[in-house]
Amino acid sequence: MIKIAKFTEMTAGDKEDYDFLEELEKGYASKVGARLYLALQQLDDTLSGYQLTRLEHSLQTATRAYWDGADIDWIVCALLHDIGDVYAPYNHDQYAAVVLAPYVREQCRWVVEKHGIFQRKYYAQHTGGNPDAREQFIDHPFYQDAVYFCGHWDQRSFDPDYATLPLAFFEPMLREVFNREVNAVAVLLPGVRVATKDAKISEQRRAMQP
Ligand SMILES: [Fe+2]
Ligand SMILES: [Fe+2]
Repeated sequence: MIKIAKFTEMTAGDKEDYDFLEELEKGYASKVGARLYLALQQLDDTLSGYQLTRLEHSLQTATRAYWDGADIDWIVCALLHDIGDVYAPYNHDQYAAVVLAPYVREQCRWVVEKHGIFQRKYYAQHTGGNPDAREQFIDHPFYQDAVYFCGHWDQRSFDPDYATLPLAFFEPMLREVFNREVNAVAVLLPGVRVATKDAKISEQRRAMQP
């Protein structure tokens, strides 16, 4: 096995080079969950002026999803929905959606991708924007899910008095999602809707408080 690719321009690479690089790439890609765990910690350093850091906001959003009985796709998407703030402040929603896309249900990816537009409902009237921009998606099958995600989890999660669960609590879920077979139909579940709220699971979780 070679230790480094031989070529200095891609056209000169041979099968041995590209087999070698593909193997390395697989190993690197398999650690994306661990890198996102670190990226979440970096969110503590972004956007000031709120009562919570972006990390605390992300954790609170995920905590609310957890107590609502939402499934792991929802919880991990809630945790990562603002991950784009670091490198894509003007399209942070799309950035997060692209990161999540190969690993989660299409429904959750869509909601993350559009959450910036749906969130305008709560502030755009104060900034000269259109609070009803979300209405362009009113006929979309995941419209109500985005309404719930934003209304019950995201826009409420700026509360320093809320009992937010720590990042370590969500780490196993992050690991599980990012260890999935990427782009598998069984993962993406195109068109499938899973409820954001499940009263029975919520009750079970509350009964065994972490
Ligand atoms: Fe956001
Ligand atoms: Fe958010």
